Amino acid sequence: MKNLVIAIDGPAGAGKSTAARLAAKKLNYTYIDTGAMYRAVAWKTLQNKEKVTDALIIEVVKDIKVSLHYEQGNTLVFVDGKEVSGEIRTPEVTGIVSQVAKLRPVREKMVALQRKMAAAGAVVMDGRDIASHVLPDADVKIFLTASIEERAQRRWKEMKNKGYAVALDGLQAEMAARDKADSEREISPLVQCKDAILLDTTGMDIDEVVTAILNMCR
Ligand code: DC
Repeated sequence: MKNLVIAIDGPAGAGKSTAARLAAKKLNYTYIDTGAMYRAVAWKTLQNKEKVTDALIIEVVKDIKVSLHYEQGNTLVFVDGKEVSGEIRTPEVTGIVSQVAKLRPVREKMVALQRKMAAAGAVVMDGRDIASHVLPDADVKIFLTASIEERAQRRWKEMKNKGYAVALDGLQAEMAARDKADSEREISPLVQCKDAILLDTTGMDIDEVVTAILNMCR
């Protein structure tokens, strides 16, 4: 099989990263988690301990160095040489990441990096604007989603396993707000491209999702 470029987009908690990572492992491809890159910018912004404003975020992104290292099926995220893979998943980072991701200077810098990483092919990249904007010539485009109830339930379990005691209804409301912000922003909003295949994973387990993705790549 030719070295494919596979783009997976969808809302928060749809299971994109888990499915994309496992599919990449099966294909022996590199997995690129673009959400982690916006989270990395959000994490660095929070290190300033100042009120988070668009101006502060734009200042932070000017000289930030974000890199992803994909090793044995796992992605390590670095900001200015420091490994922050766990720290970018806190509720504080999640709380400001949509504000970070809507800013043009942030998107321009991250998208340039994403295109460079995908240039050699044999990649699975997930995010919100991969098929529509980052890699419009991708060989396979998938829009992965699930009901908001199921997505909130999955994220709640994930947070609980990490030791965060969060209320399910609050999490669902926060997720719906983030989806709205990501879908309605001016630059590269979350959309299902005309040429993307819809994969609704409501009621599916992770193995079924990975199998469905691999079948779409055949
Ligand atoms: O997938 P995630 O929850 O880690 O993404 C974090 C945020 O980054 C999410 O609110 C939307 C944004 N994002 C984006 O705007 N474009 C992408 N390609 C990936 C993520």
